[in-house]
Amino acid sequence: MRQSSLVVVANRLPIDDNQAPDGACEWRRSPGGLVSALHPLLRHTPATWVGWAGGTGPAPALPDVDGVRMHTVALSPEDLRDHYEGFANATLWPLYHDSVEQPQHHRRWWEAYQRVNQRFAEATAEVAEPGGVVWVQDYHLQLVPGLLRALRPDLRIGFFLHVPFPPPELFMQLPRRAELLRGMLGADLVGFQRVQAAHNFAQLVTRVLELPATDRRIGIDDRVVRIGAFPVSIDTAEMAALADRPDVAARAHRLRQDLGDPRQVILSVDRMDYTKGIEQRLKAYSELLASGDVKVRDTVLVQVAMPSRERVGQYQILRERIEREVGRINGEFGRVGEPAIHYLTQPFDRAELAALYRVADVMAVTPLRDGMNLVAKEYVAARVDDTGALLLSEFAGTAAELSQAYLVNPHDLEGLKQGLRAALRADPADSTQRMLAMRAHLHQHDIRAWARSYLHALDEGGALVSRLTSTDAGSDGTARVPRPTTPTGSPAVHQAGG
Ligand code: ADP
Ligand code: G6P
Repeated sequence: MRQSSLVVVANRLPIDDNQAPDGACEWRRSPGGLVSALHPLLRHTPATWVGWAGGTGPAPALPDVDGVRMHTVALSPEDLRDHYEGFANATLWPLYHDSVEQPQHHRRWWEAYQRVNQRFAEATAEVAEPGGVVWVQDYHLQLVPGLLRALRPDLRIGFFLHVPFPPPELFMQLPRRAELLRGMLGADLVGFQRVQAAHNFAQLVTRVLELPATDRRIGIDDRVVRIGAFPVSIDTAEMAALADRPDVAARAHRLRQDLGDPRQVILSVDRMDYTKGIEQRLKAYSELLASGDVKVRDTVLVQVAMPSRERVGQYQILRERIEREVGRINGEFGRVGEPAIHYLTQPFDRAELAALYRVADVMAVTPLRDGMNLVAKEYVAARVDDTGALLLSEFAGTAAELSQAYLVNPHDLEGLKQGLRAALRADPADSTQRMLAMRAHLHQHDIRAWARSYLHALDEGGALVSRLTSTDAGSDGTARVPRPTTPTGSPAVHQAGG
């Protein structure tokens, strides 16, 4: 088995199962996300990505993607149900997002979580070279750092949580809270999106494990585990360059015409998830239509809602509710050829997304809770003419950085309506001031800066970081490799976002 000096471990591999123009199915490197961040580094280092290729059945043997080895971990139908859909997405996901939906607890799910984490740890132990660096991602794999350390104490192990880490009152509900904390403490560095999350973690470690902890360091056995906030970002330059392309500008122009040349376009782009506040936003919009503050004739809402985790009950119920509400609002307020809401559930390629961002006068990003929210950052990066208003939830991690956005509390319906009205009526000069500040921030704090700062802290100035240069442009995300023969089910929409 060939070994690598850098191993990224994430529930999903950074590839999508994609349909080529000629109809053939191929694997394609996912656009955006972690793979863009790590690409410059991975290209210059013998690197391996350990992850799941989607679906169930035997692990397909995938070819390298842009020189990065893909090491697949298989999930059985039971693992998919009890680990991915169960413990990860029906216990941890809702609990970590303020319990906006009720987390469910089943002992069988915990067993699957342990089993799958063990499998990931063993796969990683096989492919990491002696003294190598391993970077474990997200809530699906919280036990991996501890399990991996037991197998391979020689490795330098990092863990990064892309989602919020909840306050102690919520985390304490977890029947297996001590094991989950201990699992994360197998890492040398535990990274979070927000300072508050690191604080919550330190408090919990003190309370549950009775270990000495500050918001920066935790002592366990004879080791020190460092903790800190590393807000994830996007490839700002890549999104700006895409949005600036003449064909994308032309596409944006046509989109506006197709929308009936309204005076204003409001856009929302979400994974269909109860954390995204889609229902609250629709209610606010519907009330603005009812009161006459917004008129279908001159304003349209485009809601992109990409179905996600479709076999999980809470997601099925959410989709039904959203679609009923969109139907009601269109029935009540739309006119022939002029729907109040353009509702789209399809995946879009990056250029189409960039065109949508360019056409949006107001971007409404109003999650009830979100670890980061990359869509908000993508919108800002795509506003190459420095116009546009970002309506942003205070409860998105992004709000800590993009404070010039129109900030709203999505739980407050009147506040949400007021924020939407303010964004729609914003003074263009004021919007440009805000946009310029946010764009400047994102150009400096892009995804390479994020990867560099995290790995710098993990590697403590070692050789890996020096290879991650900011001048490296990366590639365009279109690398394609032939599809393997083993069918592996539905594709990932995207890589770990935030
Ligand atoms: P989350 O990680 O919770 O899904 P983020 O906003 O952080 O939320 O990341 C979502 C990512 O998925 C963004 O990069 C966004 O561009 C992408 N995305 C969302 N909807 C679609 C879609 N319909 N087609 C393609 N990409 C999408
Ligand atoms: C969030 C999570 C990621 C996850 C993504 C898509 O961004 O933090 O880990 O990959 O959502 O969800 P999915 O269940 O399709 O992987």
